[in-house]
Amino acid sequence: MKELDTNNFINEKIEAIRKTVADGIAINALSGGVDSSTVTMLGHRALGTNLKTVFIENGLMREGEAEQVAEIFKKLGVTVDIIDARKDFFSALKGITDPEEKREAVTQTFYKNVFGRIVKESGAKHLLQGTILTDIDETIAGIKRQHNVFEQLGIDPQEAFGYKIIEPLIELRKDGVRKVGKALGLPSGLFDRIPFPGPALAARVIGEVTPERIETVRKATIIVEQFLNNTGAFQYMAILHEDRVTGMCDGKRDFGQQIEVRCWDSFDARTAEPTQLPFEILKKLALEIIQSVPGIVSVTYNIAPKPPSTIEAV
Ligand code: XMP
Repeated sequence: MKELDTNNFINEKIEAIRKTVADGIAINALSGGVDSSTVTMLGHRALGTNLKTVFIENGLMREGEAEQVAEIFKKLGVTVDIIDARKDFFSALKGITDPEEKREAVTQTFYKNVFGRIVKESGAKHLLQGTILTDIDETIAGIKRQHNVFEQLGIDPQEAFGYKIIEPLIELRKDGVRKVGKALGLPSGLFDRIPFPGPALAARVIGEVTPERIETVRKATIIVEQFLNNTGAFQYMAILHEDRVTGMCDGKRDFGQQIEVRCWDSFDARTAEPTQLPFEILKKLALEIIQSVPGIVSVTYNIAPKPPSTIEAV
C-alpha cells in the first residue's frame, strides 16, 4: 500500500462529505473509539453545525464512557448529545445467546430503531460513520459480521433504514486511522485508545446479555484496563463466560462465574498474538478481579493467537 498522505486524505474527504451532504444535515454516531472520533472531526471540519453528533448510550458501554467522551469533544468544539437508548438494546438482546444473532440485534436496534428515530426527528438524510477496511474484510470473509457493514453485503441502508451512510475511512486500517486522527488534532489520549467494538460489551458476554451480566463484565473491564494500560499492548479486555465453576466465597462453596482476560499484540487486528505478560501481573490482576467483582470465582488468560481465535469473544 502506498504511503498515506494525511493532509491530502483529509482535504479530499472534507470535500467529498460537503459535496454529498450539500446544505442538508448529517448525523454522526460517536462512540469515542479511534474510528468514530476521527470521523467526527472530519465531519465537523466539513459541515460545522450541520453535523449533529450523538453518543448512543446503549447500556453496553464502559464505565462513565458517555460523559467522558462528550467532555473531550466539548473541548474540541463539538457538541455531543447523549441519547439514552438502554431499554431498546436490552429488550432486543433478551433471550439471545447465538453470537451472530446478538450482533444482528445490536445492529438492527442501532440502525433501525434508534437511528431511524433520530434521523426522522432531525430531518437528516445522511449518517456519517467510521467503518474501516478490516471491518469489511472480516465481514466478507464470513469471519464475523461487523455491525457497521451493509452495502458490501448487498444491504441498501436507504431502503432498510431510510438514510444514506457515508464512510470516509473505508480505505484505511487502524494504523492509517490513527495517523489521520492525529493530524486532525485529536488529543493523544483519544487516538491512542485501544479499539473497542461496535457491539461494545455485548461482544464480551458469552451467552445472554442482561443488565446484570453487563455490569459484571463492566466491573472486570475497569480492572483489566487499569492493570494493562501501560503494557503497550494493542488491545486488552475482560470476557464473561457462561459456564460456571465451583469456587469458594466466604468459606462456603459457591458455583461462580468466570472471567477470561485477553491481551493482544497486533499491528492491524488482522492477526494477533497473546501478549507475554509477566505472571506476577496476571496473578495480581486475577486477585483484584476476584476480590472486586461480585460472583467471579475464576480468572483465565487466553494464550491462543488470532487466527484461529478472534480478538473479541463474540
Ligand atoms: P475480531 O474480534 O474480529 O476484531 O478479531 C478485530 C478488531 O475489530 C474490533 N471489532 C469491531 N469493531 N465493529 C467495530 O467497529 C464491530 O462490530 C467489531 N467487532 C470487533 C475488535 O475490537 C478488534 O480490534
